[in-house]
Amino acid sequence: MSAPGTVPMIRMAGVDKFFGPLHVLRSIDLEVPRGQVVVVLGPSGSGKSTLCRTINRLEPIDSGTIEVDGQPLPAEGKALARLRADVGMVFQSFNLFAHKTILENVMLAPVKVRGTASAKAREEGMALLERVGIANQADKLPAQLSGGQQQRAAIARALAMKPKVMLFDEPTSALDPEMVNEVLDVMTSLAREGMTMLVVTHEMGFARRAADRVVFMADGEIVEDTTPEEFFTSAKSERARDFLGKILSH
Ligand SMILES: Nc1ncnc2c1ncn2[C@@H]1O[C@H](COP(=O)(O)OP(=O)(O)OP(=O)(O)O)[C@@H](O)[C@H]1O
Ligand SMILES: [Mg+2]
Repeated sequence: MSAPGTVPMIRMAGVDKFFGPLHVLRSIDLEVPRGQVVVVLGPSGSGKSTLCRTINRLEPIDSGTIEVDGQPLPAEGKALARLRADVGMVFQSFNLFAHKTILENVMLAPVKVRGTASAKAREEGMALLERVGIANQADKLPAQLSGGQQQRAAIARALAMKPKVMLFDEPTSALDPEMVNEVLDVMTSLAREGMTMLVVTHEMGFARRAADRVVFMADGEIVEDTTPEEFFTSAKSERARDFLGKILSH
């Protein structure tokens, strides 16, 4: 047993994942300490999304173990629902409920899953919308918001469950360029407030500014695991240097 406070927030050990014959995660070992911000980089198809999805068991794994805050991932049932609630996830597409207002979207899971009283969920929901800078949009429907505002609503919705960890899978990839920063700013302040975060992104500025650590994946493996400074100035592997060459020159 580790001493309290030293248990990593996320711990993956020897994780393998296949899609049929395709070996998409190869013996992944990854520990993310509490409060750390890890940016996951890598070429398309290298397994970044799959890695994220295994952490809240949207994808089952074929071997190895995954623990969140010292708890092994349960296979199913109530225990899995509880654990999922500890792991917030924000995707490229916002997936807000189209027929519910922004505030209702944020209140929904706390009321339905956590059993929070509606008045309390409303109060906390408004505070979260304030925090992501869209309190004035609370009573609108998602379609009435810009993409950047919708993504901030999606972040507020994930935070409403008071997660221990936030996973972001290319949260700004679907946004018009002028809206990218408003979302990255929310993520940066979340990082500063001490949230444990795993972020798949192509935003190298965010990686340099907000990440404690860069994990570079290729062909289902973690090829480099280092500081942003090290990674951007002296990546060791050929594959990482090749990736950086492409991404930094476009
Ligand atoms: N549901 C699925 N069924 C079969 N193969 C899949 C499935 N999801 C992903 N894959 C394959 O697994 C590999 C890893 O995919 P993944 O989406 O994790 O990559 P990624 O690094 O997130 O790529 P991108 O940068 O394009 O988002 C790819 O070869 C992909 O085609
Ligand atoms: Mg992906």
